Amino acid sequence: MKVTVVGAGAVGATCADNIARKELCEELVMLDIKEGITEGKAMDFMQSAALLGSDTKIIGSTNDYKKTAGSNVVVITSGIPRKPGMTREELIGINAGIVKGVTTNILEHSPDAIIIVISNPMDTMTYLALKSSGLSKNRIIGMGGLLDSSRFKYFLSTAMQCSAHDLQAVVIGGHGDTTMIPLTRLATYNGTPVSNMLDDATLKQVAADTMVGGATLTKLLGTSAWYAPGAAGATLVEAIVRDEKKLIPCCVMLDGEYGQKDICMGVPVVIGKNGWEKIIDFKLNEEEQAAFNKSAEAVRTMNGALEGLK
Ligand code: 2OP
Repeated sequence: MKVTVVGAGAVGATCADNIARKELCEELVMLDIKEGITEGKAMDFMQSAALLGSDTKIIGSTNDYKKTAGSNVVVITSGIPRKPGMTREELIGINAGIVKGVTTNILEHSPDAIIIVISNPMDTMTYLALKSSGLSKNRIIGMGGLLDSSRFKYFLSTAMQCSAHDLQAVVIGGHGDTTMIPLTRLATYNGTPVSNMLDDATLKQVAADTMVGGATLTKLLGTSAWYAPGAAGATLVEAIVRDEKKLIPCCVMLDGEYGQKDICMGVPVVIGKNGWEKIIDFKLNEEEQAAFNKSAEAVRTMNGALEGLK
């Protein structure tokens, strides 16, 4: 297996670190436009191999896509990150050009790759990667829902003082501060509804904290977060290279599911060696469906901005 991570900033490097530690592939390429940075990071990682017991070979590449040739999975993290006070949506102008260029270059050398998009605004970047490449829809996966669901579990686990591992909780919709939908009604503590354990006000607060989870970190860190986004990217790589058939909330192209068409948004999907293999299209209640429709409207408006950029 060969995996490439494009963009060696904090998210890309953390993602690569997780991939190498788990030995998800024999060869891992890190590519960035910044001269020497990936060569340095790759060497630094490789010097930890004896300590970590990882045999993954890591190769750095300063914008040389030939080195990425034959990748099975490619994670795109390129683009500028959020600064405090910025929304993910404000990044579109710069990041659209970057993501489109990266996708084209990657596919030229790895025509069979499955692509994971982390760059923001993630829903629109996933849509752009799909539309500009003409790839089959199953091969492009946006990472947001997995990260948002992990944050949801974190806030729930804090409120319940329990292990985040014992929680099943899903965030669907867009990956935006106002567009994501934590499905509180369906969250369980090893099968028991969390609504049996937390009062309404606490549940509302958990959902609100989840929605601004990224913004809260951006304010604290001065840039957007990397540990959880990087780990989420690696979790998706793992599900693909190990053909796990895991059910993971991800941003994918909808074709009538959840009442939406021609839009990439977060829904529960089965992830395996073919990319996303199946959408679990379950019936939302009226309030959730209304929130999903509203979220779709916002994502669609953002996708519309791509037209102006051409
Ligand atoms: C976040 O939510 C980077 O969008 C990412 O932290």
